[in-house]
Amino acid sequence: MEKLWGGRFEGASTPWIDAFGASIEVDQAMAEQDLIGSLAHVKMLGETGILEPEEAAAISSGLQILQQKLARGELTFTIQNEDIHLNMEKLLHAEIGPVAGKLHTARSRNDQVATDMHLYLKTHVQLIQEAIHDLQTALVAKAAEHIETVMPGYTHLQHAQPIAFAHHLLAYYEMLARDKERLQDSLKRIDICPLGAAALAGTTFPIDRAMTADTLGFQAIYANSLDAVSDRDFILEFLSDASILMMHLSRFAEELILWTSHEFQFVTLTDAYSTGSSIMPQKKNPDMAELIRGKTGRVYGNLFGLLTVLKGLPLAYNKDLQEDKEGMFDTVETLLSSLKIFTGMIETMEVHSETMRQSTEKDFSNATELADYLAAKGLPFREAHEIVGKLVLACTKKGYYLQNVPLADYQAISPLIEADIYDKLASRTAVSRRHSEGGTGFDQVASQIEKAKQALQM
Ligand code: ARG
Repeated sequence: MEKLWGGRFEGASTPWIDAFGASIEVDQAMAEQDLIGSLAHVKMLGETGILEPEEAAAISSGLQILQQKLARGELTFTIQNEDIHLNMEKLLHAEIGPVAGKLHTARSRNDQVATDMHLYLKTHVQLIQEAIHDLQTALVAKAAEHIETVMPGYTHLQHAQPIAFAHHLLAYYEMLARDKERLQDSLKRIDICPLGAAALAGTTFPIDRAMTADTLGFQAIYANSLDAVSDRDFILEFLSDASILMMHLSRFAEELILWTSHEFQFVTLTDAYSTGSSIMPQKKNPDMAELIRGKTGRVYGNLFGLLTVLKGLPLAYNKDLQEDKEGMFDTVETLLSSLKIFTGMIETMEVHSETMRQSTEKDFSNATELADYLAAKGLPFREAHEIVGKLVLACTKKGYYLQNVPLADYQAISPLIEADIYDKLASRTAVSRRHSEGGTGFDQVASQIEKAKQALQM
């Protein structure tokens, strides 16, 4: 088959070498964007008089036919035609004849491919933001059901202080809010049009870059043509934001995995999000959460892959850049599916409030309450800390908890301790008294939920 760039070549091409160089299997994911970019380009060529109005009109209608065929799944791409750009040009030629050859006037695949990727990412970042919004909505709805569900809060994965389960969920709501905002910031750099940079140096044709950018809905155009065709910072930034988002999902997945274990039994995931074992009949594994934790690795890999591709590249376009797309598409798919799965897992998970509460009563997570109690009565906090520490040590030796220490023993330790201590030691009281802003107090959690609902327009 004849190459669109074949003029300068004498030797025949070799199929397996062609296959190595081709990107069509990957870049057909942006077929839609390629046609939209071409439509804007030919409109500009017509309006600036670079092409005759009839020529531009013929090319436009050919491209529209391709759009319809693409939507119906009727376009066939081939490896011989290398990538999405050359495949589309060939298909256009088959549709409208030689005038198709005028579409590429004042354009290169270098600015074309960059334009396609900017368009692709702009749309998909918005879809990811919507998927984050859905997960946040599920978290806030679950939190609203569990404002007064008390669970152990951890540091070092050791019981630290009791907290509201809703508070724990809302921490993830906040992380996701930052993720969404980071993606919003990245749109500033995604929403810039490289079209018109041509191969690297601009063009002698009197093109109108503002017009194409405007038709495509871009906010700005690249100021420098070399930068326009070699910049992939916008993809790196997306992959960095995606890595942070996946890290958040992975931490949460890890907690769900712990919480569903026999040792914790804090939550049960519904059957749809779990799988069994082929040998152990009793097993119900949190596979979806594990997979999300695992897929975080491929997203980090995509970020490092592209950073490495870029690090030694001289300006401007180099074929290495063809390696920029697979990781981007894969990351988009991974984020969209992981977020969707997570949303379903949260919506349907069963929370064992009683188990969580009991777990706060067989521990020393109320030790801070006792120290604070003494400090509030005037004892320097450091002394209070020392006294309670010794008491905890004594209790662990005798095998009981602070709430089981008789009042007489307390008063022997410090006359400041009175009968009201037992209520202060109750985990529910401990949570409810943490009124400080952003703390786990029920009133604080309720107001965080209200703010979140407003932000999400729930
Ligand atoms: N398939 C190529 C890529 O993805 C398109 C740009 C090719 N440009 C070139 N000068 N060979 O990077």
